[in-house]
Amino acid sequence: MAQASDSIRFILNDTEVALSDVSPTTTLLDYLRLERRLAGTKEGCAEGDCGACTVLVGRLSNGGDGERLVYESVNACIRFVGSLNATHVVTVEHLAAKDGTLHPVQQAMVDFHGSQCGFCTPGFVMSLYGLWLTHDNPSRAAIEKTLQGNLCRCTGYEPIVRAAEAAARERPSAIFDPITRAREAVTARLKALRSAETIVIRKGEDCLIVPGDAAALATVLDEHPTATIVAGATDVGLWVTKQMRPLNPVVFINGIAELQRIDSTEAGLTIGAGVSYTAAFDALSDTYPAFGRLIDRIGGEQVRNMGTIGGNIANGSPIGDSPPPLIVLGASVTLRSKNGTRTLPLEDFFIAYGKQDRKPGEFVESIFVPALPEGDRFATYKVSKRRDEDISALLGAFRVALGEDNRVRIALVAFGGMAATPKRAKAVEAALIGQPWSEETVRAAQAALESDYQPITDWRATSAYRMLAAKNLLMRFFLESTGETVQLQRFENVA
Ligand SMILES: Cc1cc2nc3c(=O)[nH]c(=O)nc-3n(C[C@H](O)[C@H](O)[C@H](O)COP(=O)(O)OP(=O)(O)OC[C@H]3O[C@@H](n4cnc5c(N)ncnc54)[C@H](O)[C@@H]3O)c2cc1C
Ligand code: FES
Ligand code: FES
Repeated sequence: MAQASDSIRFILNDTEVALSDVSPTTTLLDYLRLERRLAGTKEGCAEGDCGACTVLVGRLSNGGDGERLVYESVNACIRFVGSLNATHVVTVEHLAAKDGTLHPVQQAMVDFHGSQCGFCTPGFVMSLYGLWLTHDNPSRAAIEKTLQGNLCRCTGYEPIVRAAEAAARERPSAIFDPITRAREAVTARLKALRSAETIVIRKGEDCLIVPGDAAALATVLDEHPTATIVAGATDVGLWVTKQMRPLNPVVFINGIAELQRIDSTEAGLTIGAGVSYTAAFDALSDTYPAFGRLIDRIGGEQVRNMGTIGGNIANGSPIGDSPPPLIVLGASVTLRSKNGTRTLPLEDFFIAYGKQDRKPGEFVESIFVPALPEGDRFATYKVSKRRDEDISALLGAFRVALGEDNRVRIALVAFGGMAATPKRAKAVEAALIGQPWSEETVRAAQAALESDYQPITDWRATSAYRMLAAKNLLMRFFLESTGETVQLQRFENVA
C-alpha cells in the first residue's frame, strides 16, 4: 500500500492546517472549540439533531458539469477530523468583515429579531449562509428545508425565515463575502491538498486511515478486516458521542472519488456507496419522484449532506429509510474486497437483526437501481412522530404492475420498522398477484400483513399502531393509484 502522507490537511477559515497527531474519533466540534478556541460553534445535542454546531465544509465535487467547489452545511459534533482532508471548513467566526461589519445573513438575523438566548444562532446563521451562497431568491419551502436540521427553543422560526428572505436580497460586492472572494484561491489550494495516496496516522494505540482510492480501501480492509468504515458518520458519530465506543482502526471513505459517482443509463441508476442523500436527490427524484419526497424527510439538511445511502444499507438497521423502496425497485448491492466484487439482490443482504451478508474485508461499493418499467406504479411512505428530522416508526414501499384486465401482474411490498430487518411482505404480495386491483383485493391483502409481520412495541410506536398503519399505507397506495376514496380504519377501533 502506497503511504505518502501522515497528516490530515485542510483549510480552516483562512488558515491551512496539517494534523499528524489526531485521534480517529476526534470530532470537528471538539477540535474547533477545545484546540482552536473557536467557540462560536456550539454544542447542543452532540448527536446531529439540533444544528447548534453547524459549519460549512467546502469540497471539490465532480458533478456532470466538471469539478466545482461546493459548500455544504454539516454537523461538526458528529463529523470526525479524519474526514476533512482537502476540504475548507468555514465557521461562524469567518463571516463578519475585519472591521466588525456583519455579513448580510448576520445583519438580517439582528434586523428581524431572529435571536433571543442566542445559543442556536451561530448554527442558524451558518445554515442560512449555505442557502445564501446558492440561492438569490429562495422560496419559503427552500428556507424551511434548509432549517429542518436547526432547532430553536425560544425565538420561533418566523423571524428567522424573514431574516433569510431579507438576507437573500442583500448582495454587497463579492469582495465582502469571504467564500465568494476566495473561491479561485481555495479551489487551487484544495487541489494541492488532495492526496492520491493513503494517509495513515497513529496516535498511541489508535490508527486513522484515509485510503486514496477504492483499490487502496480494499487493501486496507484486507489488512484490517475489523476496521470501522466511516462514510458520512451520521451513525458512527453517535457511537462515539453517545455510546463512548472506542473505535480502532477507523477508515474514512468520504473522500474516495470512485465511490461518489452516479451513473445513469436506460437500465437504471448506479449509485456509489459514498454518494450523500443530497448528491443522490436529483437523480433519484427525477427517476422515482416518491423516493425524492422520502429523501426530503431523512434527517435535516446537514445529515443529508453527510449521510450516504451506502451507510444506510451497510448499517443494516430495520428502520433505515432507503432499503424498503430500494428492495421493491429491485435494487442490487455490489460488494468489493481485495479478491474482487460480488453482486447480490439488496433484500438478500439483510440476514437477521444486526447481521448482513458482508464478509470481513468487504465494503459496499455501489447500489444499482433498475429503471421502473413504464406503467409500474411505485410509492413509499414514512410514518414518524415528527414530519422533519425523525426516525421512522415504520416505512412502507409499494410497487404494482397491472395487466390489461386490471389484474395485478407484479406486486412488490416491503416495510421497515415491522421486523428485525427491512423485509418484503410476501403473503401480501401473494394475496395481490392475479387479483383485480380493487378495494376488495386490497382489504384481503391487508389481512395478510398479519402473517408477514409481528412488529414490536417500542418508544416509536406500539405493535398495534404499526400493524394498523401498515395496513392503511397499503390502502393509501391503492387509493392514490386509482383516485378512489374509502374509509380507512381508525386507531380507536383496534382491539
Ligand atoms: C440527526 C439524524 C437524523 C437521522 N435521520 C434518519 C432518517 O430520517 N432516516 C434514516 O434512515 N436514517 C437517519 N439517520 C441515520 C443515518 O443518517 C443514516 O443511516 C445514514 O444513511 C448513514 O450513512 P453514513 O454515511 O452517515 O454512515 P456511517 O455513519 O458512516 O456508517 C454507518 C454504518 O455503515 C458502515 N458503512 C458505511 N459505508 C460503508 C461502506 N461503503 N461499506 C461498508 N460499510 C459501510 C459503517 O461502518 C457503519 O457501520 C439519522 C441520523 C442522524 C444523526
Ligand atoms: S450539537 Fe446538536 S447537531 Fe451538533
Ligand atoms: S434563540 Fe434561544 S435557542 Fe434559539
